[in-house]
Amino acid sequence: MRLAFWIVILCWILFGCNPEVNRKSVGSYNHQIDSLIQEMTLYEKVGQMYQCLGRGHARVGDGQKARDLIELVKAGGVGSILVPGEVDDVEEMQRFAVEETRLGVPLFFNYDVIHGFKTIFPIPLAMSCSWDTAMVRQSHAVAALEAASAGISYNHGPMLDVSRDPRWGRVMEGNGEDPYLSSLMTRAAIQGFQGNNLKDPATIIACAKHFIGYGAVEGGRDYNTVDFGNETLYNIHLPPFIAAIEENVGSVMTSFNVVESVPTVAHQKLLKNLLRNDLAFDGIVISDFGSVGELIKHGYAMDNSQATSQAISATVDIEMQSRNYHQHIKQLVEKGVIDEVLIDSAVRRILQKKFELGLFDNPYRFSTPGKIQNITLSHSHRKKAKESAMRSMVLLKNNGLLPIKEEVKKIAVIGPFANSKDILGRWSAKGDTIYAVSLVDGLKDQFPGCEINFLDVGDFWDDKQLPENRIKRLANSADLVLLALGEPKEMSAEAASRANLTIPGNQDRIAEIVQQAGKPIALVLFNGRPLTIGWYQDHVDAILEVWYPGTEGGNAIAQVLAGEYNPSGKLTMTFPRAVGQIPIYYNHYNTGRPASSSSYSSKYIDITNGPLYPFGFGLSYSSFEYSDISLTKNELNSSDEITATVNVMNTGDYVGEEVVQLYIRDHVGEIVRPVKELKGFRKVSLNPSESKEISFKINSEMLKYWSPVSKDYVLESGTFSVMIGPNSSQLANQTFELTLK
Ligand code: BGC
Repeated sequence: MRLAFWIVILCWILFGCNPEVNRKSVGSYNHQIDSLIQEMTLYEKVGQMYQCLGRGHARVGDGQKARDLIELVKAGGVGSILVPGEVDDVEEMQRFAVEETRLGVPLFFNYDVIHGFKTIFPIPLAMSCSWDTAMVRQSHAVAALEAASAGISYNHGPMLDVSRDPRWGRVMEGNGEDPYLSSLMTRAAIQGFQGNNLKDPATIIACAKHFIGYGAVEGGRDYNTVDFGNETLYNIHLPPFIAAIEENVGSVMTSFNVVESVPTVAHQKLLKNLLRNDLAFDGIVISDFGSVGELIKHGYAMDNSQATSQAISATVDIEMQSRNYHQHIKQLVEKGVIDEVLIDSAVRRILQKKFELGLFDNPYRFSTPGKIQNITLSHSHRKKAKESAMRSMVLLKNNGLLPIKEEVKKIAVIGPFANSKDILGRWSAKGDTIYAVSLVDGLKDQFPGCEINFLDVGDFWDDKQLPENRIKRLANSADLVLLALGEPKEMSAEAASRANLTIPGNQDRIAEIVQQAGKPIALVLFNGRPLTIGWYQDHVDAILEVWYPGTEGGNAIAQVLAGEYNPSGKLTMTFPRAVGQIPIYYNHYNTGRPASSSSYSSKYIDITNGPLYPFGFGLSYSSFEYSDISLTKNELNSSDEITATVNVMNTGDYVGEEVVQLYIRDHVGEIVRPVKELKGFRKVSLNPSESKEISFKINSEMLKYWSPVSKDYVLESGTFSVMIGPNSSQLANQTFELTLK
């Protein structure tokens, strides 16, 4: 007993009380890191803190810049390379770093692996609509394996930004509007990228980005101001980052925006106090692309030297792309503006990850040229990509038209996505559209007995006359028309904010012409964000949201249209009726004057408050009936739990999966609480006429929230509603009392 006590005390002294020591890999490389740091010149330390662009980046290429890069690497002036090029480039650069520098410290090779590397999976927003964390983990594990085989060791993803604004183009990279679901998806993504052990050569370091609040840019305009209070910071934006840190994410990237009027890359309160101290994150913090220098334009730094000192003081370890650290750290240390101890801490965190990845044992890890072809785009990877795509699609409307019936012998596919292979979406790493399957190709394979005719009409922006007569003729001659419409990929992701959320260009006109032909119509929608598609809800028979479905897109859509896979996706972002409703999200507060028949209530005079499709919404070819909720009891205390149960029955004709959702409302708090918050879900498969009891355990931990009054997480006695149903708008309700003794 005494011995155990002293061992615990010793461990605490050695590791626990030292904030510089990694919690989970405590001390394993301290000795090697200490001796390396002792040998390093200040220049070499700063080199570790510089991430430069590699040959694969358009700004570098093969010319003089690429030659300068080699000299810089050989001099020990670089620690990581972003977009390094092909696997041979990685090998060569690593050889320069390991064999031709004084200390032989290996490089990281970085890339944005967001939804696949060569085999492209659906965009992250789509994958979140599967509500299937196992699938998400597997998809990112495939991406990690492919990326690692190309020499990549450090990813710039996943993106965890919670967003309630579909105007923001980057919603396609995230998991939608809900912090709980987003946290689960974050865990799955990090487990997929990092595996159980970074030494496994099929893993890459994940980077949780962007810390923090980037999804809340005003007006949905990229890089814009962010303005929220601590209640929103802690309860909405922080949970996925907490999940990431619990998963031991290797790195965190700062965001481009301000929070409380301070740019995050220099935000000591957020980075030093919250991230490093309160959340005990001891991995690498990396700036976003050029954002250190942007402190000047923000009006927070006078010059690059001050910007450097601000970012270093906020514990930003690596500067991405720009060279302020290179140019200013030495002088700042010499002048005593920054202490070299801060530089040593940053270098320590960087080296720690290089050791954890096993780069000192095998700097080339998995990246054997020649091997990559056998790994990427393999049959099994493509199969997984197809499954992910099918599971990510959301059936938004169906009046019985889908799945396509046997009587249908002639299908017309009309619209810019009819035979397009450009369906990977942005941030598609090394994905090549050559390998993508278009909708028409998928249909031809899936429906060999059908005549498939298509018209790839329209350039999205071209206002030259549409071939109206050809569209009419084709629609008239078909038994069924598939409208293949959407946003070109350039319209979503970074720097792709939109003020209008209609299907762009001349596509609404195509739809009107087709509609006049009077044939059954299904809209197949390719896009990266919620759109305002009220007209389609009113005028077509079925709507299948396929997002940017990735390499296997056409095959996956065809299988869903044929009914070989019954759609089971549910929206993770609310679809507005009109842009004027934005921000629109399900977990809003009530007002003092909730919408009612009274004029002086919180509503619009021109449209209803409600969304076109709510959070959690998605149809199936089957139908599901929910019973009332039963609770094991109506009182809860802090150490107890209640079980809430519903019976869900498949009342349709198809085997189907249903995402059963649990929401809770805290009726009165020391601050006001949302009208409902997602607290659990189960995805269950049911045969026709089969029913299952679905139970959720409710405990006090789930009822806590962060309050700016207590400046802490609080739990309060009072009444709570339990709501269970198929989406956030259609819920059965029960209540219980929480009593704290
Ligand atoms: C984005 C980051 C990305 C980086 C490197 C930036 O513009 O904001 O998310 O990782 O570029 O590609």
